[in-house]
Amino acid sequence: LHVIHIAAEMAPVAKVGGLGDVISGLGKALQKRGHLVEIILPKYDCMEYDRISDLKAIDLVVESYFEGKLYKNKIWTGVVEGLPVYFIEPLHPAKFFWRGEYYGEHDDFKRFSFFSRAALELLLQTGKRPDIIHCHDWQTAFIAPLYWDIYNPKGLNSARICFTCHNFEYQGTAPASELAACGLNVHQLNRPDRMQDNSAHDRVNPVKGAVVFSNIVTTVSPTYAGEVRTAEGGKGLHSTLVSHSKKFIGILNGIDGGAWNPSTDSLLAVQYSSNDLQGKAQNKTAIRRQLGLSTAKLRQPLVGCITRLVPQKGVHLIRHAIYRTLELGGQFVLLGSSPVPHIQQEFEGIANNLRDSEHARLILKYDEALSHSIYAASDMFIIPSIFEPCGLTQMIAMRYGSVPIVRKTGGLNDSVFDVDDDAIPLQYRNGFTFLDPNEQAFNAALERAFEHYWNDVKGWEDLVRKIMEMDFSWETSAAQYEDLYSKSVARARAAAA
Ligand code: ADP
Ligand code: GLC
Repeated sequence: LHVIHIAAEMAPVAKVGGLGDVISGLGKALQKRGHLVEIILPKYDCMEYDRISDLKAIDLVVESYFEGKLYKNKIWTGVVEGLPVYFIEPLHPAKFFWRGEYYGEHDDFKRFSFFSRAALELLLQTGKRPDIIHCHDWQTAFIAPLYWDIYNPKGLNSARICFTCHNFEYQGTAPASELAACGLNVHQLNRPDRMQDNSAHDRVNPVKGAVVFSNIVTTVSPTYAGEVRTAEGGKGLHSTLVSHSKKFIGILNGIDGGAWNPSTDSLLAVQYSSNDLQGKAQNKTAIRRQLGLSTAKLRQPLVGCITRLVPQKGVHLIRHAIYRTLELGGQFVLLGSSPVPHIQQEFEGIANNLRDSEHARLILKYDEALSHSIYAASDMFIIPSIFEPCGLTQMIAMRYGSVPIVRKTGGLNDSVFDVDDDAIPLQYRNGFTFLDPNEQAFNAALERAFEHYWNDVKGWEDLVRKIMEMDFSWETSAAQYEDLYSKSVARARAAAA
């Protein structure tokens, strides 16, 4: 199959969170299965340009419609992680992707509706006729209604549209009038059964539009797919998802075993594998030295946390875990940053209070290299999320032998199974879980982890080896996507015949 992913992120060149990891991880896995996979991204000024090979502008200027005019787009090609990528650089005076950041601009709706339209023009004007156009999150959700409204009749009509929502918290709603900029018909689309937001009738909702107009709709874990069908979890879209249930499914993400592999990871102090836990211990010593933490006792649990600091991630529970870990005699390392100023400031305050501690360090920025060192160095890894569509950090942590302590929600519920839960077959048990999103419940899980760590050295090492060997690769999930794609293409062919 010819599959084109259109997205706002791709690791390692343009990554904010897990979406970036998924685009390259799923893309590579599909490519490995023999499909022709291409990616379309905006050409941001702030990308990691040194991770793109063969970057060059091609001899084609793509014109795309916006606000009543045609604008030129310069098109660049390059290779990222072995995947061919098209980068769109709009020659628009607003310099949409020349802002020094990926998201969070006042005109994000314009930036990404412009990009979505330009991406479809790129396909049309280069004569590409993919079998599947796979869009991700609200930034590229416009593709589905654009395709239905404008591009299908224009001749791109061989493609099936797959939309993956990585997080229903972000739906990109805006006043209905803003939809017209990219050429969509507001009158036709601002209807309750189409793009009208379910709670504000003068607003349109790109994610709802993608759910309605795509052929396949997925989210990133089976548990989350169930949660978003309920009034509590659906962020206003549950009724829409229920009425489109037939085409909506949850597929658990994988992780890219090439990018996340402790035995080849050049960012680590020492590479190691499950039969060399000595190497893992050396990474622990290295990071403790690097961060100025005490190295007096090797068998003192080091708890790690790497996250965007947003309410979804249970920031109050993260804050609590820092202090509780210290009370329990452990060490804590947090790597995170927040787009929310008061949360960033709060954690800067905590970092400052703990400045002289020999047992805790908070590093409040995005740092790819440091993240690898922390996964490798930590003994335990906390993810107390309030909700979590999939979560990749628990899988990465396990691959690096750090035992996850997580709240049972979304993809965490599909990937972490409690060591002490007799109802679960032994071979699946791989971490510590709790249900209620409060300090007591979290304490109980954290304390159980500490007890296991202190009281059963051999059992703990066996657990570390076991989680390192678990399979969280993309293989199974990529096969599921392939199956969805193929069935959808077959249905379209049968209907056309
Ligand atoms: P989300 O996409 O909601 O942020 P995921 O668990 O799916 O959560 O993915 C988070 C990804 O971002 C992981 O690859 C994690 O290592 C990375 N990450 C998060 N915060 C940081 C940070 N401050 N520095 C480096 N990497 C980070
Ligand atoms: C979103 C979700 C996260 C998921 C990631 C990749 O950012 O918050 O749970 O792992 O997308 O699908």
